[in-house]
Amino acid sequence: MRERLRDHRAPVVIALLSLSLMVVLLIVSGNRSPIGNELNSEPHQDNEGVIVKLPEPRYDSGVSLEQSLLQRRSVRNYTDDHLTLQEVAQLLWAAQGTSDPRGLRTSPSAGAKYPLKAYVVVGNAEDLVPGVYRYDPDEHRLTMTLEGDKRAELADAALSQHFIAEGAVAIVLTAVYERTTLTYGDRGVRYVHMEAGHAAQNVYLQATAMDQGTVAVGAFYDEQVASLLGMPDQEQPLYILPVGRMP
Ligand SMILES: Cc1cc2nc3c(=O)[nH]c(=O)nc-3n(C[C@H](O)[C@H](O)[C@H](O)COP(=O)(O)O)c2cc1C
Repeated sequence: MRERLRDHRAPVVIALLSLSLMVVLLIVSGNRSPIGNELNSEPHQDNEGVIVKLPEPRYDSGVSLEQSLLQRRSVRNYTDDHLTLQEVAQLLWAAQGTSDPRGLRTSPSAGAKYPLKAYVVVGNAEDLVPGVYRYDPDEHRLTMTLEGDKRAELADAALSQHFIAEGAVAIVLTAVYERTTLTYGDRGVRYVHMEAGHAAQNVYLQATAMDQGTVAVGAFYDEQVASLLGMPDQEQPLYILPVGRMP
């Protein structure tokens, strides 16, 4: 009789042990992820670092272009609220995302040379750990290049314009001038600066349409920003655009 009981208990004990093991594995794998568990943002590691696939941008909203133009202002005051991953993706897409299967972008570029790059310095965004990320327009994804909240150091590098540390994120537009000057010579420098203006205005209008505030900051120490972001030698920072919700 006792033998029979033992026979019955063995499968139950094994099942319970397997279940506990599964629960432990689930918890451990959940904690390992530095970024949220949304399917579309599931990070993975390759040779370059942690990569985050961004949600597809939205191509419609309840705010007309005319209203965005009318309401756009430089905003230097933000709430403590986070931005969602969808909103971060939308801002980056507006700045430099692709809008055509040939790889053409939301911002115009002389000769389609695309000398601009967009980074996002994340402090308070849902599903993104604080850090510095580089935006890849063709893949619409982010690669984390540095971990940790760098907003305060970015503000210091920008002549202590403290509001930069208070935006949920800051988009940093940089340029590789050679991409344009190789074709257009010295005049290419002018083109690159014009392009930064186009991209920044796109961020302004997109932020306004999402009820967020931003300001295009041009006053900063180039070398300090470049070194903080770990930018390659041939790249120059042009604009810092902190973004946050408006009070
Ligand atoms: C090239 C450029 C550089 C700027 N740099 C800064 C800056 O370093 N700090 C800042 O607070 N605002 C900066 N601004 C924002 C202007 O101060 C702002 O656009 C101006 O006051 C007009 O206000 P509005 O944008 O609300 O129309 C800059 C704007 C431009 C176009």
